Amino acid sequence: MWVWSKLAALKWEDAWEERFYGNRNAVLTRLKGGRSVRVDVYCEEEGEAVDIAAQFGGSVKEVADRNWAAFSAVPGPPIKIRDSLLLTAEVTPSKLRELLLLNEGRVVVSIPPEMAFGTGDHPTTAACLRFLADEARARKGGRWRVLDLGCGSGVLAIAANLLGAEECEALDFDRKAVEIARHNVERNGAQEVRVEEADLREWRVERQYEVVVANLFADVLQASFGKIRRTLGPGSAFILSGVLREQWTETEEAARTAGLAFEIVNKKGKWVSAKGGVD
Ligand SMILES: C[S@@+](CC[C@H](N)C(=O)[O-])C[C@H]1O[C@@H](n2cnc3c(N)ncnc32)[C@H](O)[C@@H]1O
Repeated sequence: MWVWSKLAALKWEDAWEERFYGNRNAVLTRLKGGRSVRVDVYCEEEGEAVDIAAQFGGSVKEVADRNWAAFSAVPGPPIKIRDSLLLTAEVTPSKLRELLLLNEGRVVVSIPPEMAFGTGDHPTTAACLRFLADEARARKGGRWRVLDLGCGSGVLAIAANLLGAEECEALDFDRKAVEIARHNVERNGAQEVRVEEADLREWRVERQYEVVVANLFADVLQASFGKIRRTLGPGSAFILSGVLREQWTETEEAARTAGLAFEIVNKKGKWVSAKGGVD
């Protein structure tokens, strides 16, 4: 395994966090004295680390192998979303049964920390899950299909399917994420979730969905709004997250230009999430 590292002034901490947002193997450490941060990105291949160095400077060195799962995150307590979902890193069947019994009425989604973004603990994922829980309640008994753009661990599509959505489609351009998401689909017994490797920059819209969810960087979102608009029909909902406060005005403008409008905009900490549809 290889690690790329770079020292940066503390004032750039947010910018670095955003740059590697979605990469579970990126670690920001505030250094003693509190005026600088070290950014480390752990890579399986030397080439990946060298590519980062070519783009941002810094140094590359080889490190002893680690247990990725243990490294990615220390599993926190289960996360409750509205009164309908419980996200847990737990995978042991007996422990999952116990959680189900203790949380009657909630759907339990098991997503252990691995090399794909989306265990539910990040505020942007939790924001999408809250919107999805609300959509599930509003669409109960009806037929709704879901498209999850930038699915990472698959958490959103899996939760949507277990909450009643049918035919969930989940896309990511990261092969590892696709592999992990497929495993998570199986692990959770989600029957109708199809995970595909696709880069949104090249992906072509083939059909429409009742709910489209995208937890992505603002630049990827903005570039995808035209396609996203075409995935939505009358009455469809579009959920987005992953936009930093300071990027919201330009993101909303780009959405409006593409024919999208938002009826709910939540600003929480430094993140903005929103729900809307066709203008
Ligand atoms: C912030 S994560 C969201 C993961 C999960 N949906 C969640 O809400 O926790 C963003 C995901 O989008 C994927 N992604 C970023 N740019 C993409 C692109 N151009 N095409 C496809 N997937 C992309 C990343 O690989 C990453 O898994």
